[in-house]
Amino acid sequence: MRISIASDHNGVDHKRALLEHLRAAGHAVTDCGPHTTASVDYADFAQAACRLVQDGAADRAVLICGTGIGMSIAANKMRSIRCGLAHDVATARLAAGHNHAHALALGARVVDATTAIAMVDAFLAEPFETRHQRRLDKITALESSGPTACSTTC
Ligand code: RB5
Repeated sequence: MRISIASDHNGVDHKRALLEHLRAAGHAVTDCGPHTTASVDYADFAQAACRLVQDGAADRAVLICGTGIGMSIAANKMRSIRCGLAHDVATARLAAGHNHAHALALGARVVDATTAIAMVDAFLAEPFETRHQRRLDKITALESSGPTACSTTC
């Protein structure tokens, strides 16, 4: 699989471990940075990795910051990108199986590198369950919806 990977300064060590693991497993991985632990802004790197997915140059993106939260918020602002924030193998698997996520975000302050590797492996291996497509179509429709498009009253 073609995978883009990016982090912020908090995720550099996890990124390095994931890169090594994924390449050894035969994936084609593009490292979108950063390459040092100097402080950076996660939105810049989420954008770089997810842009490759948008352009069709990567099949999936893996994003690591301190919590995964900033990366997931940034990635989900990008048109057509669904990013799942996962905290364990189960949520990583469900991000692929139920949400057909293009990107997985995880937190280097939340999971250790060994767990991160297991999570990414699960994310990449899990097939999408097509019974969830209707919900994804509604998420996609939100990208072009105006303020009056809500069809559900609360
Ligand atoms: C540092 O920018 C920190 O806020 C970041 O690594 C991440 O935890 C944000 O969600």
